[in-house]
Amino acid sequence: MRFVLATIVLALTASFALAQERQPRRDLIIECMACHGDDGIAKDREVPHLAGQNYDYLLKQLRDFQRGRRPHKEMRVMSRLLTDFELAEIADFYARLPREPKP
Ligand code: HEC
Repeated sequence: MRFVLATIVLALTASFALAQERQPRRDLIIECMACHGDDGIAKDREVPHLAGQNYDYLLKQLRDFQRGRRPHKEMRVMSRLLTDFELAEIADFYARLPREPKP
């Protein structure tokens, strides 16, 4: 019985760790949600959807905003303090989201 319990606990911890790994830290994207929507589908027509967009494309746009190669005031500010690793995490997060909003 003790063995079974230990196995369950181990399995739970492992899957929790995995789930954590796949999600960028929430504080990274919480501000993005204000404009780009909770699920990466923007409500405002002037803001692009990010859900299901190509990873490489997203990462390039974020780097370009950061370096001022793609000029945009808000996005420059938003990307300014993020590390390359964080940009990659964010791009990965949005690329995995479904393109269509949940019904
Ligand atoms: C104040 C609103 C606002 C916030 C906050 C914001 N964005 Fe944006 N974002 C925009 C707008 C507006 C554009 C369109 C820029 C343009 O017109 O070139 C954009 C463009 C983008 C693009 C390019 C999409 C494309 O299709 O080319 C990416 C990627 C992106 N944002 C990611 C993020 C991430 C990641 C965050 C959080 C760190 C974030 N944004 C926060 C408003 C915002």
